[in-house]
Amino acid sequence: MGSSSSSSQHARQVAAWVLLPLLCFSMLLSRAHGGGSRKLYIAYLGDVKHGHPDEVVASHHDMLTTLLQSKEDSSASMVYNYKHGFSGFAAMLTVDQATRLAEFPGVISVEPSKTYKTTTTRSWDFLGLNYPSSHTPASELLQASNYGENIIIGMVDTGVWPESRSFSDQGYGPVPSRWKGKCQVGPDWGSNNCSRKVIGAQFYTVGVPEEYFKGDSLSPRDHNNHGTHTASIAAGSAVEEAAASFHGIAAGVARGGAPHARLAVYKSCWSDGSCFETAVLAAIDDAIHDGVDVLSLSLEMSENSFAALHAVKKGIVVVHTAGNKGYLMQTIKDTSPWVITVAATSNDRSFPTVITLGNKQQIVGQSLYYQVKNSSSYRGDFTNLICMPSCTAEDLNGTDMKGVILFCNDKGATFLQAAQYIVDNGGSGLIVSPTIVDDLFNIAEACQGIACVVVDIADADKICQYYDDSSSPLAKIEPACTVTGNEILAPKVASFSSRGPSVTYPAILKPDIAAPGVNILAAKKDSYAVLSGTSQAAPHVAGIVALLKVLHLDWSPAALKSAIVTTAHVTDERGMPILAQGSSLKIADPFDYGGGNINPYGAAHPGLIYDIDPSDYSKFFKCAIGTKRTPVTCNTTTTLPAYYINLPSISVPDLRHPITVYRTVTNVGEVNSVYHAAVQSPMGVKMKVFPPVLIFDAANKVQTYQVKLSPMWKLHGDYTFGSLTWHNDQKAVRIPVVARITIQEI
Ligand SMILES: *[C@@H]1O[C@H](CO)[C@@H](O)[C@H](O)[C@H]1NC(C)=O
Ligand SMILES: *[C@@H]1O[C@H](CO)[C@@H](O)[C@H](O)[C@H]1NC(C)=O
Ligand SMILES: *[C@@H]1O[C@H](CO)[C@@H](O)[C@H](O)[C@H]1NC(C)=O
Ligand SMILES: *[C@@H]1O[C@H](CO)[C@@H](O)[C@H](O)[C@H]1NC(C)=O
Repeated sequence: MGSSSSSSQHARQVAAWVLLPLLCFSMLLSRAHGGGSRKLYIAYLGDVKHGHPDEVVASHHDMLTTLLQSKEDSSASMVYNYKHGFSGFAAMLTVDQATRLAEFPGVISVEPSKTYKTTTTRSWDFLGLNYPSSHTPASELLQASNYGENIIIGMVDTGVWPESRSFSDQGYGPVPSRWKGKCQVGPDWGSNNCSRKVIGAQFYTVGVPEEYFKGDSLSPRDHNNHGTHTASIAAGSAVEEAAASFHGIAAGVARGGAPHARLAVYKSCWSDGSCFETAVLAAIDDAIHDGVDVLSLSLEMSENSFAALHAVKKGIVVVHTAGNKGYLMQTIKDTSPWVITVAATSNDRSFPTVITLGNKQQIVGQSLYYQVKNSSSYRGDFTNLICMPSCTAEDLNGTDMKGVILFCNDKGATFLQAAQYIVDNGGSGLIVSPTIVDDLFNIAEACQGIACVVVDIADADKICQYYDDSSSPLAKIEPACTVTGNEILAPKVASFSSRGPSVTYPAILKPDIAAPGVNILAAKKDSYAVLSGTSQAAPHVAGIVALLKVLHLDWSPAALKSAIVTTAHVTDERGMPILAQGSSLKIADPFDYGGGNINPYGAAHPGLIYDIDPSDYSKFFKCAIGTKRTPVTCNTTTTLPAYYINLPSISVPDLRHPITVYRTVTNVGEVNSVYHAAVQSPMGVKMKVFPPVLIFDAANKVQTYQVKLSPMWKLHGDYTFGSLTWHNDQKAVRIPVVARITIQEI
C-alpha cells in the first residue's frame, strides 16, 4: 500500500472522529435496523485482566452486548475471542460500531482484519538438493545445546506434512512436561500425526473466507508446502538421503537449525499462501498459552505486532521475515522492536558450472544445470556458440538456434525473452551476465531444463572476445557441481529481501539480521525442494535461537536478539565485505542486513548483551501499539523517540542538534573483563562514546555508556552508516549506527 492511500485512510478516520458527536443520535436509530455493511474487525484490549479464560470471554461478550444493545446480536457478531496471551476479540461490525467500540474504556484499538502473504518468492521442485552446510551451526554448538531437544518452536504457517522424514521422532525423549498444547484432528490428520517431534498441531479458520479452504483440508496438514519447508529449516531432523539423490550436484545432509527441537504447528495460512490476521492472532494467543519457546512467522506482517509483544513479555522469542518487497529503500513493513526481523542472503557460488570454449579456455559460472540422462537435447558436447550484445525477441528473430549455446549480455531485462526463444527454437544453452538476478532457481525455472549459466561481467568479456576472434566458435557446458567452505565468496543480501528504514518508525533499525534465504533445500511433502525467500531466512534464525536458548535458559528475548545482532558478520573469512544485490551490486549496509549475516558460533558467547525489560517498550509505543490512530487517552508528549530503547543498534533519522543516546550493556562473558570502544562514525556525524573503556567485575556486571551524535553539516542529507564496537582480545560486540542529518523542524 502506498503512503498516499494510507494517509487518505487516516484522513477518513479523523473525519469519522470529528463527526462522531453529531452522528451518534442517528446511529443509535439506524443500528436497531442493522444499518451499514459489516466487516471483520479486531478489538485489542491489552493484557488479560481476568483470571480464567471463560471470564475473559464473558467480559468481551458484555462489552459487545453493551455496544450492540442486544445479547443475540452480540453472539451473532462475535467471531473469536483472544484470551490466553492477550485480551481481544474479532467481531463483525459496521464502521460506525467499530468507531464507537474504540471509545470504550479499556479498548486500545479496533482495526479491520488484514490479510498477509507467506514470503517465499518462488519454488523449484527438484528432488534432493542440499543447502551449503557452511551456514548451519557448527556441531560444537549443536552438541552443547543437545540439538535443541528441550526447545519448542511454534510455526505459524500453512501446517506441516507429518510423514516427511525431516519430522521423524526416532530417538526423541518424551514431550517436555510444560507443553500444554493440543493435537487437533481433521479429515487427513489423525491423533497419531502428532509425535515426539511434531508435539502439537492446530488450525485456525477464524475469519477465513470459505473459498480459501479449496484444495486444502480442515486440519493441520500442509497443502501449500510452505509450512513444511519452513518447519524443516527451523527444526528438521537430519536426513542424509535428501541430498544423495539430486544428480550428484549437492553433497551433504538436509537438516534444520535445531534438528532435535520440538515443533508446534499453528496453521493460520491456507493453500494459496494467504494468512488471515484473525487466525494469526488466534495462533499466537494459543502459542503463548501452550508453552512454546520460539515463534517463527514467515509471513509479511505490517507495522507493530502487539500479539508478538505479549509473547515477548512471556519470554518467547518471536522471529519475523523482513518480507520480499525488494531492494528499494523503505520496503520493510515490520517495525516491532521486540521481534527479530530477518533479511535473506545468498551464496551465489554454490553451484559452479564449467564452460569450456573451443580454445580450451575454461570459465566458471554457476547454474543448476544437471545432466538429464534420457534428454534428447543437449548432452554437454561442444556445440556452436553465438555471442549477442542484446537478446530481445526482436534481436533474436530469425537466428538459427538449433543446438546453439547463446551468450547474452543481459543489460536490459531481456533474459526471459532469450530463454523462451532458445526453448522454442531447439537451442542447447544460454549464458548470461545478469545485473540483478540473484536467484538461480528463477533462472533455471525460465530455462525449462536447458543449460542456463550465469557468469561475471569479466568472464562475459572473455567469451565474446573469443567469439569475435574465432572463425567457428564452440563451447560446451558441463553439469553443475557443488562447493562448500572457503571456495564460496562472501554472502550477498538477496535482491528480493526488503530494506529499511521503516517509514513509520525510522528510529528503529530494521531489519535486525540476515540469514540464508536463497536456494534452500528443505522438506516438501515426502521429498525435498529448494525454495527462496525471507520465509526461508527466518526459520534459520528460529532454529539458532532454539540452540542459544538451551545454553542461556534465563536470557530474555531481547538478550538473545542482542547476542545475534552484535556478533553478526559484516565481512567473510577473508575480510571481504558482505554485498547487497539490487539494481547494482554494492557493499551491504544496515538497511540491508541490520547487524550483518548471522554467526551462530559468536551468538552463543557474545560477551556483552543489550537487554530490555519488555515494559520499557510502552514508553516508546504508548500511542502506537496496536493502533494507527491516536486515542484521546494517549499522551503523545511523554512518548520518547524510539532510539532511546536499549536496542543493539542506534538509528537517528532526524539529527538536527547534538543528541545523547544511552545504552546499557550486561557482561555475560568472563567476570573480570575490560572493553574498549571502537567508533566508526556515520559520514557527516561526529560520534563520541563516553566512557571509552568499560570495566566489568563481580560487583559491576552492568554498565551504561553514552553516545553523543552531532551533525557536522547543516545540510539535509541521506542516511549514513557507522558502528560502535566494544572489544577486547576475545570479543567484539558491534552495533550498527545509522543517522540522517536534517535541517527541517518537524
Ligand atoms: C496421519 O494420519 C493419517 C490419517 O489418520 C494417516 O493416514 C497417516 O498415516 C498418519 N501419518 C503419520 C505419520 O502418522
Ligand atoms: C532411459 O532410456 C532407456 C533406453 O531408451 C530406457 O530403457 C530407460 O527406461 C529410460 N529411463 C528413464 C528414466 O526414462
Ligand atoms: C520476426 O520477423 C518476421 C519477418 O520479418 C516478422 O513477421 C515477425 O513479426 C518478427 N517477430 C518478432 C517477434 O519480432
Ligand atoms: C502529558 O505529559 C506532559 C509531560 O509529562 C504533562 O506535562 C502533561 O500534563 C500530560 N498531559 C496529559 C493530558 O496527561
